[in-house]
Amino acid sequence: MCGIVGYIGQRDAAKFLVEGLHRLEYRGYDSAGVAVWQEDGIAVRKKAGRVDELAKLVANEPADGSVGIGHTRWATHGETTDINSHPHTGGNGEVVLVHNGVIENYTAIRAQLQSLGYVFRTQTDTEIVAHLIAHHLEEQIRLGSDPSEVQTYVDAVQVSLKKLKGTYGLAIVFRDHDDLMIVARSGSPLVIGVGEGEYFVASDASPLIGYTDEVVYLADHELAVLRKSGLELSHRDTGIHTPDIQTLDQVSSDIDLGSFDHYMLKEIFEQPQSIENALRGRINEDEATAIFGGLNMDPQQLRRIDRIVLTACGTSWHAGLVGEYLLEEFARIPTEVEYASELRYRNPPLGTRTMVFAITQSGETADTLAAMRECQRKGHPTLAICNVVGSTIAREADGGIYLHAGPEIGVASTKAFTSQVTVLTLLSLFLGRMRHMSYPAGQRIIRQLLEIPSQIEKTLQCNDVVKEVAAKYAEANNFLYLGRLYNFPAALEGALKLKEISYIHAEGYPAAEMKHGPIALVDEHTPSVFIVPRCGIYPKVLSNLAEVKARRGPVIAIACEGDEKIAELADDVIYVPDVEECLQPLVTSIPLQLLAYHIAVLRGCDVDKPRNLAKSVTVE
Ligand code: M6R
Repeated sequence: MCGIVGYIGQRDAAKFLVEGLHRLEYRGYDSAGVAVWQEDGIAVRKKAGRVDELAKLVANEPADGSVGIGHTRWATHGETTDINSHPHTGGNGEVVLVHNGVIENYTAIRAQLQSLGYVFRTQTDTEIVAHLIAHHLEEQIRLGSDPSEVQTYVDAVQVSLKKLKGTYGLAIVFRDHDDLMIVARSGSPLVIGVGEGEYFVASDASPLIGYTDEVVYLADHELAVLRKSGLELSHRDTGIHTPDIQTLDQVSSDIDLGSFDHYMLKEIFEQPQSIENALRGRINEDEATAIFGGLNMDPQQLRRIDRIVLTACGTSWHAGLVGEYLLEEFARIPTEVEYASELRYRNPPLGTRTMVFAITQSGETADTLAAMRECQRKGHPTLAICNVVGSTIAREADGGIYLHAGPEIGVASTKAFTSQVTVLTLLSLFLGRMRHMSYPAGQRIIRQLLEIPSQIEKTLQCNDVVKEVAAKYAEANNFLYLGRLYNFPAALEGALKLKEISYIHAEGYPAAEMKHGPIALVDEHTPSVFIVPRCGIYPKVLSNLAEVKARRGPVIAIACEGDEKIAELADDVIYVPDVEECLQPLVTSIPLQLLAYHIAVLRGCDVDKPRNLAKSVTVE
């Protein structure tokens, strides 16, 4: 939530900042702004609306200089106005900063600062940080600190940070120092790109691609002092230390839109490849099992596990539900899926043999991070299934599995979901083969899994049909998504996709549960999407479908190729390849993603940046 960039070096800072904000726009797009250090003061350009609006502003009113910071906002405190946009200025303009996170004790600090004469111009929590640092800076100088010394600024920032409760990623520049930027984090991600006589700052690595491949990930409670000549890193508790410089392995084609109209569509079409990446090097055909390098648990510990808790939010939570079915079926380990936002404040009994997995695309979701830390605090091995390498959750987890899906930029998660399900399938196979699963059963799963990328390739051919179906139902105001067993989580995920990007109300339900309430919603204007591939309870799902038809509800069926019976019952059918029951969500979710996409496009919605949402939710 909110994206931060910063630059100090010799380049045109504004160019890097605006370009970087475009790449971070998925994190929030309520407003954007930059501040660039100039001889006569810091030039601030900021505007409500998208980064494009800011780019126009900067083109009309250039901000020339080689030190600057920028921000793209997902509003938490204060409306989405020009004045509430970041950067924010403190004191008499001596401090200018951008912030990602939420300052929980801002009202108390604001009152204190107001009593000292500081004038607040915005409704944001961030402005208090700018005034607080300015206040401490003024204090230091009044007490004799030298304003030309970097340490004076560092001290003012450090004293201020100690007073903040909440989360922050901060990039700060100072009117009276032309070669200084201070960045700090607690709970919100920050990465520093290291160049030759220059440094780049960003909330994630995407703005750095093409500029440098050497990066330093800031940890919580770390503060970095950036000067053109060098970088100094210190931790609140342990003091100054040497930065751990890592190599970035992303390339610019990962973040190019190519010939696609939207990132979401590009990412949907990338799924054969992303699933192949999730499988690569993780299958041991001889032993009919999976291989993981980073679980950091020995076989004995793994065999002792008698319960698994999967925790996540949104789409990742839906993947967790598929994981629950898989783990219980393959490994016979009792598994629960907990919303991270609930788990962080609940106190469920977790035994010494309970293993916790946090599932997250971004690795930055505040609730998931908090739930993970809570479980770790109580001594449980907590692992992560995560996409973003170097993210906070990936770094803090006791071990884990990367998705290797590549950057997911569309706010609506698509390829991360199928990669999460793929990894959970491998995990279930792995734990299953350590317990009761037979060798032939393991081989069968592997055979089927290895075919999934090509089955998805085939499934994607339904795109034109889905487009036609979308045109037929794009005006509907309510949808039901219904499926059973492995396809129940797929139904939830299909409904979430439609809600997020087309703003149509949609409910996902287990198909048979529908008659206990939601069936009251069925009428000739409410389409039901039935996920009804061949499975053990196929006839039962057909009965549920008939119940909807009997009430004149239009039915769109997602069914297996060659299923002629369904064509007689449903109004529209989208066919997918016939795959093993436990792997069905991997293919049935594809037409659901496409359906949401085409309906949203037809309704003129901004597919990649749906209203009110942001890609990674780093606030509570
Ligand atoms: O990055 P995470 O997987 O932790 O994100 C969790 C949710 O915020 C995310 O899945 C959200 O629901 C997406 N917008 C779904 O498309």
